[in-house]
Amino acid sequence: MRKLVAFASVKGSPGVTSSTLLTAAVWPASVDRGVRPIVIEADAAGGDLAARFSYSYTPGLLDLAASARLPQPEPLASTAQELPCGVRTVISPADTDQCTEAVRLVAGYRAAVLRGDPDYRDTVLVDTGQLSGESVPLVAAADELVVVSRGGADALAHVFTRREQLNELASSWTLAVVGGCPYPREEIAATLDVERIVFLPWDVRSAAVLCGRSLKPLRPRGFARRPLLTAAERLAAQLAGVAIPERPGLGGSLARLSAGRNPVAELVSGGSR
Ligand SMILES: Nc1ncnc2c1ncn2[C@@H]1O[C@H](COP(=O)(O)OP(=O)(O)OP(=O)(O)O)[C@@H](O)[C@H]1O
Ligand SMILES: [Mg+2]
Repeated sequence: MRKLVAFASVKGSPGVTSSTLLTAAVWPASVDRGVRPIVIEADAAGGDLAARFSYSYTPGLLDLAASARLPQPEPLASTAQELPCGVRTVISPADTDQCTEAVRLVAGYRAAVLRGDPDYRDTVLVDTGQLSGESVPLVAAADELVVVSRGGADALAHVFTRREQLNELASSWTLAVVGGCPYPREEIAATLDVERIVFLPWDVRSAAVLCGRSLKPLRPRGFARRPLLTAAERLAAQLAGVAIPERPGLGGSLARLSAGRNPVAELVSGGSR
């Protein structure tokens, strides 16, 4: 059975959809046979990705939900479409009523339609949007929960007031803090009673790619490192249960400059051509 990881917010639009897509995009190649997780846009308030990428919402969540009760439901992959960032995504229409009903159907039977056959071992990331009466059964059916919040006192106060519900929904959940945050990790951990915290830096360039506002590659060529991608790699490694990737740092990057053959030096020294 597949492992389900739910991504949710408690208030506002802190970046759940973007963070879910990004986590799938940087998923460690060493797990799930190198196959990136499928993302499911299962926000009961309505989807955004169809409009953001000018995609049709079918195939998508409505097709998956409609087949949830059939003895042979639609295979998850056949309801997914690949976004330009390389992530296969089951997208939704913007319509709240349609999405609410679809989320209800998918969450029924403990989301069996998402988990697939017993032989499946890969991971599915579910963007459940803002925690609500409609989304709670889907979040409860997941194996892990990532709560996405902005880092100000106002945003974190809402996570604080929901912490008992979050602890009931998931034995251990991860807090992903998007953008600037004036509080150190230890202070947030102690106040919100959460062990796992990941800071996802503000990054307009990457966010534009994830929202369909830019068609640039997520990873820029060359030596530039985007802190958001590095942070998301850590989150993905944590969720996948593998070692957090080592970054070579400046020394490692510069070492690559001299790693190749130097034909000029070979010519001067009379070496091979
Ligand atoms: N790390 C980031 N850096 C810069 N902008 C970001 C980041 N994450 C998200 N954003 C921006 O924040 C806005 C909201 O993001 P997104 O749609 O992912 O939020 P959401 O929580 O899914 O919202 P909703 O609840 O409305 O579905 C978008 O404009 C997105 O580009
Ligand atoms: Mg969203």
